[in-house]
Amino acid sequence: MTLAASETLRPHEECVPVPDAFDAGLWFIGGIRTPWAQRAECPRRGDPVNGPDCRIVLDARWLSALEGVAGKDRMQVLYWMHLSRRDVVRQNPFFGDGSLGTFALRSPLRPNPIASSLVRLLRVEGNVLTVRGLDCIDGTPLVDLKPEFGLLP
Ligand SMILES: C[S@@+](CC[C@H](N)C(=O)[O-])C[C@H]1O[C@@H](n2cnc3c(N)ncnc32)[C@H](O)[C@@H]1O
Repeated sequence: MTLAASETLRPHEECVPVPDAFDAGLWFIGGIRTPWAQRAECPRRGDPVNGPDCRIVLDARWLSALEGVAGKDRMQVLYWMHLSRRDVVRQNPFFGDGSLGTFALRSPLRPNPIASSLVRLLRVEGNVLTVRGLDCIDGTPLVDLKPEFGLLP
């Protein structure tokens, strides 16, 4: 894996060799439009109340799959952190001094760089959903959309 200089490991961080082949494939079903061009500009976590309006642009092929979405208030958005390296198993969180395991963090650096956010759905116009609560750069690929039912007490 080729790494940009900006992606070099910091003290206490660790990476491992990745498998030779993938076990599954996926399709990006659209793209996410946000105000942020660079990772450093993004919030660490989206704000579904006060965050900026962002647009989820679903590929027209999947339009029928939006049936029933317009009435929802909250949605789970899954997206692919396409700029992340995928071999990091220990990394330094922004809080604290040492490193933690990747699965103890919501960092975008993970073997399968799938991010999720609970967003407030403002409107649906054709294949475009306007939402609040995202934290990714403009052009981040969309993996899935699911309604949020808030099952926890
Ligand atoms: C800490 S992650 C949280 C993502 C998601 N809310 C979650 O909890 O799974 C958000 C950070 O990922 C980084 N990021 C945003 N878009 C990215 C992308 N397309 N590829 C890699 N990193 C990205 C930014 O630094 C942003 O602050």
